[in-house]
Amino acid sequence: MTSHFEKVTEISLKRAIIYPDAEMHGQMSGFFDYGSVGSEIKRRWENAWREHFLSLNQNFHEIQTTIVMPEQVFKASGHLEHFHDPVAVCSKCGVSERADHLLEEFLGEKFEGLTVQELNALMKKHKIVCTKCKAPFKEIEDKSLMFPLQVGASEDKTIGYLRPETAQGPYASFKREFRANRQKLPLGLAIIGKAFRNEISPRQFVFRTREFTQAELQVFFDPKELPEVPFHEVKDYELIVLPVGAKDAKKVKCSKAVKELGMSEFFVYFMAKMQQFIESMGLPGKFRFAQLSDEEKAFYNKYHWDLEVFCPSFGKFVEVAGFHYRTDHDLGGHAAVSKENLNIPGKDYVPHVLELSFGVDRNVFAVLDNAFREESDRTYFALPQAVAPWDAGVYPLVNRESMPEKALEVFKALRESGIKAFYDASGTIGKRYARADEVGVPFGITIDGDTLKDGTVTVRHRDSKEQERVSAAQLPERLCELAATPQGKL
Ligand code: GLY
Repeated sequence: MTSHFEKVTEISLKRAIIYPDAEMHGQMSGFFDYGSVGSEIKRRWENAWREHFLSLNQNFHEIQTTIVMPEQVFKASGHLEHFHDPVAVCSKCGVSERADHLLEEFLGEKFEGLTVQELNALMKKHKIVCTKCKAPFKEIEDKSLMFPLQVGASEDKTIGYLRPETAQGPYASFKREFRANRQKLPLGLAIIGKAFRNEISPRQFVFRTREFTQAELQVFFDPKELPEVPFHEVKDYELIVLPVGAKDAKKVKCSKAVKELGMSEFFVYFMAKMQQFIESMGLPGKFRFAQLSDEEKAFYNKYHWDLEVFCPSFGKFVEVAGFHYRTDHDLGGHAAVSKENLNIPGKDYVPHVLELSFGVDRNVFAVLDNAFREESDRTYFALPQAVAPWDAGVYPLVNRESMPEKALEVFKALRESGIKAFYDASGTIGKRYARADEVGVPFGITIDGDTLKDGTVTVRHRDSKEQERVSAAQLPERLCELAATPQGKL
């Protein structure tokens, strides 16, 4: 039987959503392309993210910094010293696996954050062998996830690295941005861009790749004068949390979370804003904030909660975003290595950082995976309109009797009203609906014989397949009205 994962990835490949890079040359694992449809979905996800997070404060801004950064940056950030994963290499066939994930597969528990010695002991105790050739693994070693590169052609080539997270761009730019933005805190600097990690065993389609896109917001603030936030907006809103040691996730109102989770309103407010964003992507109730233990936390974090979404393809909750209180770890490191003074004016300490970090590819996949629907005669993605590749398809019923001309007029009027439409006149109308359903287009507009007589068109709704007649002149207005329904937002 074809699994949910196979069905979703099959449509993704067939309909130019996401596919392996340079397939004809044999794929290097961990690299994927977004096709003509996937690029639209991804772009809309990114725009929704921008709109949501950058509007939280007037001093939150987007910047674009380089992907290649000098070695000093990663000395300062601690990545050169700490950013590695334990690798287990088969003594016979040479296949490499991430040791903690391998143990998790065999034993069904999490082993992230264990030392190499502890992992080696577990591998021996449980006699873990290579699944391919059944030979034992060599001793586990830590392997850096950084991609180094030589910059320039001279003898004394400079060593640079592909950034492993977008976050270091805002830290390295902090001084300039702080000055340019009137030395005001909180200051938010966001980047949506590529990051790279030399993963030991990329897997799960776009979930663990070597090149990926992140959307990260770094909020710089004074830890002794926490910024005010409009907490009243979220006080009755319920977070879904899974604290360390808890067996099941529970709902907790933000007003109670302050005490229960031991975090001030400032932090709880941003957790709520992250969860609300995930909800708006058509994933109501299918997520939770999972707290990481001290062993599991990233080396730079004081508070670390993963925002996890349930994905039917994997049959479990998977991490799509992270809530990270990075304290003064990064700015402190950059100040020490560069000898720049990054202190808050008049204070003897640097700002602290709260990071809201989203993996864009994981989010796009989680949205698709949860939106996948199968009926006896069709499959479709019930995507929220905010991330559908187009708002509407415009179709002449047949290619004669001036229907194409009229349909092109309607198409043009929609585009001029800011509605993202496409025009399709090839194949039967049933096939055109099916093609659009399969990539999640919420509305189909058909121009038929009646349009020529009375100026009305058919609006077909993707999920219910219901149809309504609307005057062509009022179509943009009607689509905007429909967009305000839970199905989406233009
Ligand atoms: N910037 C945090 C992360 O990459 O996970």
